[in-house]
Amino acid sequence: NDLSRHTYILRRTMLSLLALTSAWAPAPSGAMPILLSAHMSCGTAALSTGKAGLASEQCDKLSMGMRAEESVPIVHRRRSSVSQMMADAKTPPKIIICGAPASGKGTQCELLKEEYGLVHLSTGDMLRAAVKAETEVGMAAKGYMERGELVPDEVIIGIVKDRLAESDCKENGWLLDGFPRTEEQAKALAAAGIEPTKVLYLQVPDEMLIERVVGRRLDPETGKIYHLKFAPPESDEVAARLTQRSDDTEEKARVRLQAFHKHMSAVESCYIGIISYVDGTKPKTEVFAELQKSLE
Ligand code: AP5
Repeated sequence: NDLSRHTYILRRTMLSLLALTSAWAPAPSGAMPILLSAHMSCGTAALSTGKAGLASEQCDKLSMGMRAEESVPIVHRRRSSVSQMMADAKTPPKIIICGAPASGKGTQCELLKEEYGLVHLSTGDMLRAAVKAETEVGMAAKGYMERGELVPDEVIIGIVKDRLAESDCKENGWLLDGFPRTEEQAKALAAAGIEPTKVLYLQVPDEMLIERVVGRRLDPETGKIYHLKFAPPESDEVAARLTQRSDDTEEKARVRLQAFHKHMSAVESCYIGIISYVDGTKPKTEVFAELQKSLE
């Protein structure tokens, strides 16, 4: 009858919940349990801390009435703030910062690097250095960069993987700026077992980005980023030596933006649960405060 059917369903639900709770219980003290989702669209396992800490596949299975122990395995992971991680030398933070061209990635990386002592790796800077040094990679990348197009995945993936394997990155943690920009690049990181702790996404509308691109200037001596209107140089001496990137024209910025919009949602879907969206339209210090909050 109805009453016994409802009692049965209630009992099964409670058992499922109990199974989940007991699986979570032995997590080390201070550690937040996180489920390892085996269904991520990148094709490899990735962390998910979504609603109620459940990976969506697991939510689906539970809602279909499957028992908890039949769903994907539960793995205990420590979800720590960046400052906690800094204190724990064994788990240095690994952060990806993404956003459209001129959304402020480089500007914020200067501050994040100073605050947390992470190794800052900008694929744009690495490629520009390679072009300048006329290396094989530089020669392969040059034309694409000049046109504002993405450099082919096979040119960039190897350099990034090699750089992340170096000892300074392993010891201090890293801040990856401008990579991955395609699903292929995200998949390559995951396949190499490189899993970020956190992904930060700076959101800025396109028209604001164009204004930022055309007004950007760089100090070749210090590497500092300026903007003629929003972050003008401190002295005439600095102003006199500022340079402009060859791809910082409105025309090329529109090509770069197009590439960004084409690929970004696939990249985002690889990092569900560890991605934080930050309003990049605010002044630099406010954006930084928001980023810090996301890292807590
Ligand atoms: P890259 O150098 O990475 O260029 P990008 O992604 O287009 O990013 P930007 O460096 O232009 O901007 P940003 O977000 O760092 O902004 P910034 O802080 O400087 O890549 C260049 C090229 O290399 C690519 O086009 C591609 O060809 C190739 N490439 C690189 N990585 C690749 C990859 N993974 N795969 C394939 N190809 C790759 O700020 C911009 C301006 O705004 C500055 O003037 C700044 O002062 C100002 N500003 C910053 N924040 C604020 C704020 N809050 N308010 C007001 N102004 C601000």
